Amino acid sequence: MTGNTPFVIRPIAEPQIIDNVYSHDQVERMFGVIRQHGPWKMVLAQHFKSAEEVVATMSGSMPEGTEPSFDMFLTPNFRGFFGQNGLSHYQELDDIFYSVDHLARVRSYWNAEFASPESMNFIVQGSSRNLDPAHLDGTSFRGVDGRNSPVWLLNTMGKSGLFQRWMMKKAQVISWFYQGKIGGGFTYWPEGPQGAPKRLAMPAWNRGVVTQNEMMYHRGEACGPMDKRMPDGLAFQSLWSADPDRADGWQITTDGKVIERVAPEEVRLMVHWTAQIYKDKQERDLVFGHSDDLTHDQVFEMFVADLRARGLTFRMPSDPLTDRDFIRLLTSTYDCGRPAIYPIEAPGPHQEQIAA
Ligand SMILES: [Fe+2]
Repeated sequence: MTGNTPFVIRPIAEPQIIDNVYSHDQVERMFGVIRQHGPWKMVLAQHFKSAEEVVATMSGSMPEGTEPSFDMFLTPNFRGFFGQNGLSHYQELDDIFYSVDHLARVRSYWNAEFASPESMNFIVQGSSRNLDPAHLDGTSFRGVDGRNSPVWLLNTMGKSGLFQRWMMKKAQVISWFYQGKIGGGFTYWPEGPQGAPKRLAMPAWNRGVVTQNEMMYHRGEACGPMDKRMPDGLAFQSLWSADPDRADGWQITTDGKVIERVAPEEVRLMVHWTAQIYKDKQERDLVFGHSDDLTHDQVFEMFVADLRARGLTFRMPSDPLTDRDFIRLLTSTYDCGRPAIYPIEAPGPHQEQIAA
């Protein structure tokens, strides 16, 4: 995993497709919670405080001469949580969040002895574009995680392959409910970003996948008719909720005004359950006993040793966590590249935009 052996981002095992992930009654209850406990905010609005903040964060990545405007980053995807931090948020979904079936699925996927539910979120949308070319889900390590470390560091550690021994093992059961005829599938790259993609095509109802998405590039595809993928009036503060005038309908509002009504056959719901995995008693005790946790010093010592082994010359900063040049060196050295090949049926966001 040093300079000579490229590390490939790939999951512990080939993702497993499963049908009839939930019972009919469980599906009804999940839709019921989304209907009764809304409105739900856009995914983007959960990561940023304002439209201005989004533009400020993203403008660094824009091609030179492009003036970023907020609607460049807007997608009408709305998210909520059924559970977080190992805790179910709705009693009526307890059997789903603490599902013994899911626990058995992810233990088998990892061939591991122990698993516990970590979080469960959903993304609901009508017709929607998707600007994401592909991503990895956030990763964490024993001793170094989101509580004490910035996202760039965790991402770079994951991509480097140097810290696999400390990486928290996780697995997801992700399921989809989409009856629409256009797009909406799930593209994933189980052989790494340079390999061939695979695809779970839609329409599909209650169909899912068992996977390790911290170690596999993936993306949700745009869905619905091209001319409906960006509703007029969509804004940072737009919300998703049940349509009060139609028993099974939905609506998107901006500042209390309905900007889009969504029929049930156009709704795409993704339900994303994540578990923590402990391979055996020894690993369980390592995690909870904190006897082999990483420290930031150790992380940077290992990075520096690897950079030197690659023959790179650099000035060692006094604070590597904040030094811009050093951060740039790390992120570019361990950039394993985005996916190169897209399915013909689901071209990347660039082509989706041209087609739109
Ligand atoms: Fe993801």
